[in-house]
Amino acid sequence: MAKKKKSIIDFRKMKKAGEKVTWLTSYDYPSAQFGEAAGLDMILVGDSLGMCVYGYEGTTPVTMDQCIVHSEAVRRAAPNTFVMGDMPFMSYQISPQEAVANAGRFVKEADVDAIKLEGGKRVIPMIRAILDAGIVVCGHIGLTPQSSGQLGGHKAQGRTVESARLLIEDALAIQEAGAHMLLLEAVPPEVGKFITERLEIPVYGIGAGMHTDGQLLIISDLIGQFQAFTPKFVKKYANVAEIVTNAIAAYCEEVRAGAFPEDKHCYHMLEGEHEKFLEMIKQYSK
Ligand code: KIV
Repeated sequence: MAKKKKSIIDFRKMKKAGEKVTWLTSYDYPSAQFGEAAGLDMILVGDSLGMCVYGYEGTTPVTMDQCIVHSEAVRRAAPNTFVMGDMPFMSYQISPQEAVANAGRFVKEADVDAIKLEGGKRVIPMIRAILDAGIVVCGHIGLTPQSSGQLGGHKAQGRTVESARLLIEDALAIQEAGAHMLLLEAVPPEVGKFITERLEIPVYGIGAGMHTDGQLLIISDLIGQFQAFTPKFVKKYANVAEIVTNAIAAYCEEVRAGAFPEDKHCYHMLEGEHEKFLEMIKQYSK
């Protein structure tokens, strides 16, 4: 029997029951199929696709059109998993109206179950407007890669009391605005624990310690595919880069040595056609 797609009601129940949510990014059909088969609760089509798929240095060049195309593929591959679209840089910062229009594109064109946007108090008008359109919203605070320039780089947040206080204020404001869930990125475990326990909505973490209501990782980190750098919070469960590089190197070696393809990889002519073929090509002899 196909697994049942979870909803925000299930995620609330899981928080109450102390049951952890499993969440991973995915950007394409195959990995989303693997994720659904493996039993993930949620998939984020993160704007990290800019770095993991397109090779950009950061996430800011990512466009709405790119996010939609990848979200569509993930949705097709994982019909029974809660899929979240990630609002890319400049798709929601300009005005609440543009935020609603772009969040609406995710739902209308890619059939996602929710959208995520980065920022605390300063994006509350956008969160409210998207909620008013009937769309499920996840907040995202802590290390917010789209505004990493203002943070002085991809740096953990909430490591001083003052910085932790600002995060708590942002988290409370996001819940108060009506968001359905919150993601904390790169904050100390005690900050993750306090915010998770203080908020009624589910609070998930990526690099926010072990106390949050669930964990998110980037698939390209988890399978050992992303090469540029590895954040402290990453655990690599496989080394796909090594496996794939070795496979390609073996292929190159066999092609150069004439060891691939073998007869078993060849299509053969139909019964009785081979002899006629040899006869026919005589007219082309030099
Ligand atoms: O784009 C993404 O994958 C994200 C995570 C880094 C949280 O937003």
